[in-house]
Amino acid sequence: MTKRGAEATITRGQWHGRDVIFKERSPKSYRDGSLDMTLRTSRTKREASLLSEAKQFGIATPIVYDIDVSNFIMVMEYIDGDLAKTLLQNRDDRLELAEKIGRSVGAMHKNDIIHGDLTTSNMIFRDEVAYFIDFGLGEKSHEPERKGVDLHLLKEAMDSAHSEFPKLFDSVTKGYLDAYEDGHRILAIVKNIEKRGRYS
Ligand SMILES: Nc1ncnc2c1ncn2[C@@H]1O[C@H](COP(=O)(O)OP(=O)(O)OP(=O)(O)O)[C@@H](O)[C@H]1O
Ligand SMILES: [Mg+2]
Repeated sequence: MTKRGAEATITRGQWHGRDVIFKERSPKSYRDGSLDMTLRTSRTKREASLLSEAKQFGIATPIVYDIDVSNFIMVMEYIDGDLAKTLLQNRDDRLELAEKIGRSVGAMHKNDIIHGDLTTSNMIFRDEVAYFIDFGLGEKSHEPERKGVDLHLLKEAMDSAHSEFPKLFDSVTKGYLDAYEDGHRILAIVKNIEKRGRYS
């Protein structure tokens, strides 16, 4: 099975007897050749290191088995579950799922990990645990503004992909504050970003 995403080709396969995903960052013809190679290299490395780092802080992520930087390929554990996007639409306990998502995002931010692309297609639930993928645009930062932008993106993603369920982000907030005592500061920034958006 192969899937072409915006950035990469995702292929399910076997690696040393394990079920894995090969994520290969494809060239983008609109980017200058050497810039293109630099971006694909840095995002591949960054994604592998943030996946591993997040896991050390107790955030569920696929295990990274291998990385072939010169071919822009990362080999990771296949997470056999359902996208948060699907479950948030279909499950009656969606608010509890959203709270779990919030708790994990709070744990990331508490540990200065910015995900960079917090959409509900970048989270997979397996055995009721939310696994986070797609850290290629992430970074390490202690700056509250960066965390605010990260969380604001999740709010926007939920408001657009799950507009029938406007309470989802309240549950995210609850989990976020549970995991991250200083989270109030970040939530204030999220409100501020929304205000700026409305008046600009
Ligand atoms: N480790 C994994 N286990 C199971 N499914 C995965 C895994 N990694 C990726 N996928 C599936 O492939 C999709 C795309 O993966 P990912 O988001 O990492 O790539 P992408 O190129 O950034 O894609 P997009 O542009 O769609 O975000 C995910 O939404 C998910 O359905
Ligand atoms: Mg993705």
